[in-house]
Amino acid sequence: MLYNRMLPLLGIGLALGSLIQGCLGTTLLPPITPCSSLTVTPPDGTTLINVTATERYNVTYDLPTYNGVAGHVNICDVEVFLTHGDAGDAVRFAIYLPLNGWNGRWQGTGGGGFAAGGFDFELVPAVTSGYSAGATDAGVNLEGKTELWYNSTQLVENFVHLSFHEMTLIGKDLSEKFYGKKPEYSYWFGCSTGGRQGMSEAQRYPEDYDGIFAGAPAINWEKLAVADYWPLAVQNQVGELISPCKLSAMQNASIQACDLLDGAADGLISNPLKCEFNAMEVVGTRLQCDGDSTVIITEQDATTDEWGELLWYGLEPGTDVAILAAQPGFDISTRWIADFLLQDPETDVSNIKEDELVEFFRQSVFELGDLWGTDNPDLSAYRERGGKILTWHGWADEIIPPLGTVNYWQRVVELAGGEENTDEFYRVFMAPGLGHCGSENGYGPQIPIDNLTPLVEWVENGKAPETILFSGNGQSRNICKFPKELQYCGSGSINDAINWKCV
Ligand SMILES: *[C@@H]1O[C@H](CO)[C@@H](O)[C@H](O)[C@H]1NC(C)=O
Ligand SMILES: *[C@@H]1O[C@H](CO)[C@@H](O)[C@H](O)[C@H]1NC(C)=O
Ligand SMILES: *[C@@H]1O[C@H](CO)[C@@H](O)[C@H](O)[C@H]1NC(C)=O
Ligand SMILES: *[C@@H]1O[C@H](CO)[C@@H](O)[C@H](O)[C@H]1NC(C)=O
Repeated sequence: MLYNRMLPLLGIGLALGSLIQGCLGTTLLPPITPCSSLTVTPPDGTTLINVTATERYNVTYDLPTYNGVAGHVNICDVEVFLTHGDAGDAVRFAIYLPLNGWNGRWQGTGGGGFAAGGFDFELVPAVTSGYSAGATDAGVNLEGKTELWYNSTQLVENFVHLSFHEMTLIGKDLSEKFYGKKPEYSYWFGCSTGGRQGMSEAQRYPEDYDGIFAGAPAINWEKLAVADYWPLAVQNQVGELISPCKLSAMQNASIQACDLLDGAADGLISNPLKCEFNAMEVVGTRLQCDGDSTVIITEQDATTDEWGELLWYGLEPGTDVAILAAQPGFDISTRWIADFLLQDPETDVSNIKEDELVEFFRQSVFELGDLWGTDNPDLSAYRERGGKILTWHGWADEIIPPLGTVNYWQRVVELAGGEENTDEFYRVFMAPGLGHCGSENGYGPQIPIDNLTPLVEWVENGKAPETILFSGNGQSRNICKFPKELQYCGSGSINDAINWKCV
């Protein structure tokens, strides 16, 4: 399952992000209501199925790639199930309230892929940092089995925008009942689907959050879910799969072709928009793949790197395309096409060709764009309530085309009356060599250990971020606020952020 593979990747970034957020707290409030006496006020249009509120001690969540463990926290765990009218759905909400040291803030957390929430993976780090925090499953499974819910109008609505709004209302209300005080500030925290959820909050329920961290947001869902199938459709058309080794060689060749544009041979393309890599240049290249036979990149291999008519953006030069290029197709794309477009979960969708994919793309945009799209550039209501949105997106994102974020930013800028106006409430940071939500398919400086503090500083202290420090894989960079880009200063270690500037 894609989701199972992806969530840990997402979650590590998210969880780390929450680990060291604790020190900004103002008053640390103890509870005034016993956990077991808490009651849930169901949001409009919902009915409670059941509620359990239990004190839990020493709650932990291991983060294997981080030299530590989140947690050892004591919480009031409120588990809520509710339903909508006679829809027959059962939506789970988990609201964690720290028993001691509440920092006065509420944090809503998001999911990944076709899962609406990450639960302990994100909740435990959040409560460790002093937040009260919540997650929801939207009433759908967490394993990405969309064949179980694609045909339910209610479940789709829950997933697309409703459940995490309701989770926010429930969580803020429980925080107030438990501590005797409304949360002073509210933050959204999510990447990928979680990023899309954050943008949905800004667009549809602007009152919910003071600050929204939306990493690599899947806002163009109905477009990218089909577009992600493109690398496979092109190969299906030709009738031959390109080997992972050849794909890797082309990725390397594209990096090499454009590496120096930023003034340094650092293995990173700082601004892929300036990179004009032509895959034809590597035709004839001999490769030693998997230690045995020598293979040669052919013209046929290279032409498959062309994206053809622009329906939606592809991945950028320097990106690992292996996941999207492989049979039997990228999970999210194949589930989307079989379940949501064909409405027939049993169909084999592993052999779709280019021309068929174009039709699916049009159908997806036409039939499902209004509901699933989360790319409305009108953020005026969110801006007027003083909200701030922070986004970063990897230029080497192997799942969500980074130009979708750039396209959205441009449309927001246009509507908001220019970059300066937009800077007041929405800032985007595009990171060279960074994979999807900091996945291992990236190779550049990695996502900040602490994603939320720059946003908290912006919301609470008016300190808007100009750059954000990324480090890892032996390199660090102060990632520039888009549309600025990194350039080497000309001397000093190319690995060190201090020797790079934003131009
Ligand atoms: C609450 O309701 C859900 C959904 O029907 C069910 O799965 C769960 O077991 C119930 N929990 C309790 C404590 O009754
Ligand atoms: C808390 O849990 C950890 C394991 O995660 C354990 O080593 C430790 O002894 C526990 N502490 C208490 C006070 O129970
Ligand atoms: C949706 O599909 C499932 C599985 O095929 C089926 O059991 C269910 O009755 C369908 N629901 C609706 C509302 O059509
Ligand atoms: C591409 O570069 C990476 C990193 O240097 C290397 O591990 C990999 O083997 C290269 N791929 C090919 C096909 O040479």
